[in-house]
Amino acid sequence: MAGLIPENILEDILGKVDIAEVIAGYIPLKRSGKNFKACCPFHHEKTPSFMVSTDRQIYHCFGCGESGNAFKFLMRYERMEFPEAVEVLAKKVGVCLPKNDFRGESPNGATSQLFKINELAQNFYSSNLNLAEASGARDYLYKRGIKQETITELKIGLAINKWDSLINYLRAKSTSLGLLDKVGLVVAKDDGGYYDRFRNRIIFPILDIKDRVLGFGARVLDDSLPKYLNSPETAIYTKGKHLYGLNFAKDSIKEDDFVAVVEGYMDFLIPYQDGVKNIVASLGTALTSEQARLLKRYTHNVVMVYDADSAGELATLRSLDIFIEEEMNVRIVSLPKGFDPDLFVRKHGIDAFREKINNAQNIFDYKLGVLKNRYNAKEIEGRAKISALMLDTISKFKNAILRSEYLKKLAQDLNVKEEALIEELAKVKTDKGYTTQVIPPPKRISSINPTEKLLMSLMLEENSLIGRIKESLDAKDFQDERIAKVVSIMFELVEQGKQVAPQILMNHLGDDISELVCESVFLPQTLTDDHKEKVVDDCIQRMKSNSVKLERERLHEQIKVAQHKGDHERLALLTEEFHCLIKKRTDKL
Ligand code: GTP
Ligand code: MN
Repeated sequence: MAGLIPENILEDILGKVDIAEVIAGYIPLKRSGKNFKACCPFHHEKTPSFMVSTDRQIYHCFGCGESGNAFKFLMRYERMEFPEAVEVLAKKVGVCLPKNDFRGESPNGATSQLFKINELAQNFYSSNLNLAEASGARDYLYKRGIKQETITELKIGLAINKWDSLINYLRAKSTSLGLLDKVGLVVAKDDGGYYDRFRNRIIFPILDIKDRVLGFGARVLDDSLPKYLNSPETAIYTKGKHLYGLNFAKDSIKEDDFVAVVEGYMDFLIPYQDGVKNIVASLGTALTSEQARLLKRYTHNVVMVYDADSAGELATLRSLDIFIEEEMNVRIVSLPKGFDPDLFVRKHGIDAFREKINNAQNIFDYKLGVLKNRYNAKEIEGRAKISALMLDTISKFKNAILRSEYLKKLAQDLNVKEEALIEELAKVKTDKGYTTQVIPPPKRISSINPTEKLLMSLMLEENSLIGRIKESLDAKDFQDERIAKVVSIMFELVEQGKQVAPQILMNHLGDDISELVCESVFLPQTLTDDHKEKVVDDCIQRMKSNSVKLERERLHEQIKVAQHKGDHERLALLTEEFHCLIKKRTDKL
């Protein structure tokens, strides 16, 4: 997460900043014992459950789980990127950031010049719509159901039917042709000189979340081809990095806690105009993980709305896996044949569109449905093919419990043996390198074991305990994956001789884990020091015997599978292991 900013600088900033002061700059904080409290700015509530600790320099909301350090607060509240939050706080506490770093964007820098030119061009295209000669374009927009307010809000414009109108306009504002070329607004002629890239087209400016103009999409007014021309890739515009409409939609996406993703400009515009404001357009291409991460800043819930023809494509199915890799929830709407969202809303109305979205299918059911249409599930080969393609998706879930639950569902639906699916899944190679092994049915505990949680809080509270616990337990003795991760980082930091403050741990942790850490910091610890020793010993003992018990269960399951398959060699091996385990246990008692 920290990216290119050196860790020690982050720690320096976090050590100097006062999180209560930062947060109090945005919302009123009330003292509450050692801590401060407030009504949570991240969800609606009437009584305060948002806590800020000045001791620990973190915040946590018991209502919605939002939590983190000062960087995270700015990222969430101000929707800043991480480097931006670092920059703001560095300035506030007077820490110098290394030069030549992660942003390097001065107001007179090359990129800001390009933004400036695009903004001038956008204003020019907008004003063109008022010209007398634009009556055809205006008619076209009205005919497609686009209202004047929408034209104004989305800054829609027109490139008139001339080879040099933009060039002349911008040259008069003393813009160099070289820069116009760099930002993709002009095209070089073979024999020298330039001409306007966009002519006789409706212009849709593509804005980023700070409302800067990155580039343009341009549509013909009739049936000629190509239907759309887009800005080429430039220093400020990279395809697959942005989403059309996100700047307009971001507040609603956050509020509604989901986003509808459509393919085209018009598919964005018509639903948006009619009141579905939590919508963005991918602009025809399959979604990239960069775009998924961009959305993740506002919501974890995505509804993809496809035309019927693209909805059944295998390429479409594959692109959905991106959301699973990003640990987001994705549901899918496939519109009736011949409809895209624009047409659907104009024919059936916005409420029918909303209903489609509300009834979106989850990815498992959707993908299985598409595959069953494509392959014959009544035949063995068909079932094998469907299983293989479903396993591709299932293997992408990082959470072992989700993987095993979906396997169970798939086995039931296709009427195949779960063990066989488990075996196949183990063969699926993932590019991320995490294991696809599924723990067989008697699953790992999904709710957190109180002993593990207590040990973690004790270590967070008192760093001296970390070394002691490290002597007796491995990080992997902790059954909860999240706690195991926190513990392994704590162990590592201690090994490097570093302090283990929760606010610094945050920089290494994902949202769900940091929530766990922050919560445990605020849960009152009522143990006295001498009592603590005893509690730690007890916890370690309990963890050890629990870990043996789980190991035994795991072996037991594997033995059953081996028996079932008649794998005698493996069976002998496992039985041996099982006896050793029991012996180890009785030795200790
Ligand atoms: P309308 O015909 O105006 O309704 O377009 P649409 O919004 O329905 O878009 P469509 O579904 O036809 O295409 C989806 C997206 O793919 C568009 O918004 C464009 O971004 C892109 N696209 C479509 N046609 C072309 C093309 O000819 N060239 C390029 N570069 N992109 C295109
Ligand atoms: Mn369309």
